[in-house]
Amino acid sequence: MQGREQFATRFGFIFAAVGSAVGLGNIWRFPYMLGENGGFAFLIAYFICIALIGLPVLLAEFTVGRRGQSDAIHSFENIKSKSFGKIGGFLGVLSGTLILSFYGVIAGWVFYYLFSYITGAAGNVESGGFEGFFGEFIASPVGPVVWHFLFMAVVIGVVFFGIKKGIEIANRTFMPMLAVLIIVLAVFGLTMDGAGEALSFMFTPDFNALGDINVWGAAVGQAFFTLSLGMGAMITYASYLPKESRLPSAAGTVVVFDTFFAVFAGLMIFPIVFTFGMEPGAGPGLLFMTLPEAFSQWGLGGTIFGIFFFLFVGIAALSSAISLLEVGVSWAMRRFNVGRKPTTLVAGSIITLFGVLSAISQGAVPALTQMKLFAFLDPSSDTITFLDILDKFTAQYTLALGGLVTALFVGWGWNRIEALRETGLQDTAIGAVWIWFLRIVAPAGILYIVITNFINMIG
Ligand code: PHE
Ligand code: NA
Repeated sequence: MQGREQFATRFGFIFAAVGSAVGLGNIWRFPYMLGENGGFAFLIAYFICIALIGLPVLLAEFTVGRRGQSDAIHSFENIKSKSFGKIGGFLGVLSGTLILSFYGVIAGWVFYYLFSYITGAAGNVESGGFEGFFGEFIASPVGPVVWHFLFMAVVIGVVFFGIKKGIEIANRTFMPMLAVLIIVLAVFGLTMDGAGEALSFMFTPDFNALGDINVWGAAVGQAFFTLSLGMGAMITYASYLPKESRLPSAAGTVVVFDTFFAVFAGLMIFPIVFTFGMEPGAGPGLLFMTLPEAFSQWGLGGTIFGIFFFLFVGIAALSSAISLLEVGVSWAMRRFNVGRKPTTLVAGSIITLFGVLSAISQGAVPALTQMKLFAFLDPSSDTITFLDILDKFTAQYTLALGGLVTALFVGWGWNRIEALRETGLQDTAIGAVWIWFLRIVAPAGILYIVITNFINMIG
C-alpha cells in the first residue's frame, strides 16, 4: 500500500468539504423546495432537520472517513463492520450515480445562462419574457443535452487528472465572491415591491403546516442533499485528512456556510417572485425564471451581474459534482482494481449518458415529461418529470437511508469510546449528546419521516 493522499492543510479540507456542500442544492434546490412546500413551514422543518439530523450525521461521516482512511465502503470495513459497509456503500454509489446524472443537467442550464449573458442573448429578453426563454430552452431536445455534456466533460476532466489544487483554489477564490454577490442581490431584492410578501412567505409562523408529513419529507431530503450526506462524499473527503485536525469545528463550519448560502438564496429569489407575480411553487425552473427578470431591469449592469452570478454558481456546482463523481470512482478503483483514469472515463460516461434521460425530460419527450409512475413524489401534481423523480427519490429515500446506516454504525455498531476519541469529544457533554443523537434522535427521525412518507404514498 502506498501512503494515502492527504490534504495539504486543514483549510484545504474545509474548502473541499464546503465546496462539496455549497452548490445547486443551496441556490437552485433550496428556494424551489421552499416555494413548493409553503415557505415558513418548510424553513422551520429544514432548520430542525439540519440541527437534529444533519449536523450529527455530518460529524459521523467525518469520523468514519478519517478513522477508516479509505473509500466510502472500505472505511466501514476498516473500522469494524462488513455489512454496514456493504449497505451504506451500495446506497452511496446508487445515490451518487443518480444524483450526478441530473445534477449535470441543471448545471448545464446554468452554463447555458452564463453563455447567453455573455453573447447578449439573455440581455435582449424583454421584461416578463424569461418564462418563455427558459421554457423554450429546456423543452428543446438538443441544447440541454449539449450543455450537460460540456459540463460533465469538465467534471470528468478534473477527476481524471485529480487536480485537487485547481478546484481548491477556484473555490477559495470564487466562493467569497458568490457570497458577496448573493448578499448584494438579497439586499436589492428587499427593496422591490414584492419584498413584504416574500418576507411574510418565508417568516410568518404557521405551525399548522408542520403537521404535513410531505413538508418533513422534503425538509429531511433537503438537509441530506445540501450537506452532501448519505452517500459517502464526506466520508471520502475526510479519509484524506490528517489526524490532528478537529472534526467538530469542521462540521460546524460546513453547516454554517451551507445554511448561509441557502437562506440568502431564498432572500434573493422570493422578492422577485412576488414582484413579478410569479408562482413560488414553480418547481425546478424557479431560479432560471426569476433572477433574470431582476437582472433585466438593470440593463447593461444586469448583464454583468448575470455573467458573474451564473459563473460563480457554475463553479459551486462543479465542486459539488466532483465530489459526487469521486465517491463512485474511488470505490470502483478498489473494487475492480483498475486505475483512476480508465475508471473515471467509464463511470463518468455511464453517468453522463444516463443523464440524457433527465435532459430530455423537460418537454422534449412527453413520455419522460409527464410520468405517472412515481408521481406521488410530487404531491402538488399528478404527473412528474424524470428529472424530478431522480431528484426527489434520492433525497427523500436513498440519501436518508444512507445517513441512517452511518448514524446506526457510529451510534451502536462501533465502540463508543473510540468514536468519541476520534472526534476529540471524549468526556464532554457534547460528545454524549452527539452519541445519543446518533443512537436515537436521528434514526427515529429519519425512520419516522421515511416510513410515514412511504405509507402516505401507497395509501
Ligand atoms: N451538497 C451539494 C449541493 O448542495 C450536492 C451534493 C449532494 C454533493 C450529495 C455531493 C453529494 O449542491
Ligand atoms: Na448544499
